Amino acid sequence: MTGYHVLEGEELSRLRDPRRDFALDVLSGLSEHHKKLDSRYFYDDEGSRLFQAIMSCKDYYPTDSEREILQNHGRSIAATCSGTPLNVIDLGAGDGAKTKILLQALVELGVDCRYVPIDISEGAIGGLVETMKLDMPELDVQGLVCEYTDGLNWLSSMGDNRKNLLLFLGSNIGNFNKARARAFLRRQWTSLRDGDYALIGFDLKKDIEVLLRAYNDSDGYTAAFNQNLLRRINTELGGTFDTSKFRHYGTYDVFSGAMVSYLVSLEEQVVEIAALGRSFEFEAWEPVHTEYSYKYLERDIEDLASDTGYIIEAKYRDSRHYFVDALWRVAK
Ligand code: AVJ
Repeated sequence: MTGYHVLEGEELSRLRDPRRDFALDVLSGLSEHHKKLDSRYFYDDEGSRLFQAIMSCKDYYPTDSEREILQNHGRSIAATCSGTPLNVIDLGAGDGAKTKILLQALVELGVDCRYVPIDISEGAIGGLVETMKLDMPELDVQGLVCEYTDGLNWLSSMGDNRKNLLLFLGSNIGNFNKARARAFLRRQWTSLRDGDYALIGFDLKKDIEVLLRAYNDSDGYTAAFNQNLLRRINTELGGTFDTSKFRHYGTYDVFSGAMVSYLVSLEEQVVEIAALGRSFEFEAWEPVHTEYSYKYLERDIEDLASDTGYIIEAKYRDSRHYFVDALWRVAK
């Protein structure tokens, strides 16, 4: 009894093949005039571990801000969602530390609550299920190892009658551009039922120096996190990247409101990727785009909810007004 379920074999191949997706995305990304790699591939076991390190470093404020929000408003969120048996579906759960604050509030209110964390990293889900069982033995936990959308497809095929609270915390929505964020939230809407809830963490536009520090932390975790993507290409696709020959660079685009991350080639070099049967040339100082982290205005959050079929139940902010957890209700 592991307490989590890995979507694999036929069950997954009916949905998709993750290694082939990775290979094809690397091929198309590195073949473009402006080279790019998709940030969703950051999160293998090592990447998840590095992201943990980012979250606990002092320059990265979003985690602290959201923890403060859940500590101050978790009971109010729980009260809103109480009354019927509840599935708490946690997309990209990570270590679940922040979610635990909310789960504790739900349990204290006596809500019959099943926790369904979903993450692509088996290491992360395995560890999370273990800690949850130790810390909250009364909680029903059913982890899922898969991509977000596969998890929701699987869940909707199970068809139970519990109310759902979908969590998309930590500003994970920020990795999507505004159009993709709309599409993603609408997609969740189709898998949810009238009266279900979604709690979404949005990072707000703020002092640019604070943003730059958060994405260029002085401990170098963000740099290692980006370089891990190259290491992952080496181990999974037979690449020959020397990660020390690429430096991480994070900058803020004021108009689009995105923190943008790059890996910049420090010299002219050729990298082979065996699984693709190809090599790629990099000029000195050529950038590879790796990540967008979009920041929001409060107005953007309101527009997004009404455009995608949700009613804003409440908006919770931290004391510095760095971050918002928005509680939305599905309207059908
Ligand atoms: C996990 C996507 C919310 O964008 O802030 C942290 C990832 N990247 N530092 C973010 C990340 C660089 C993080 N998210």
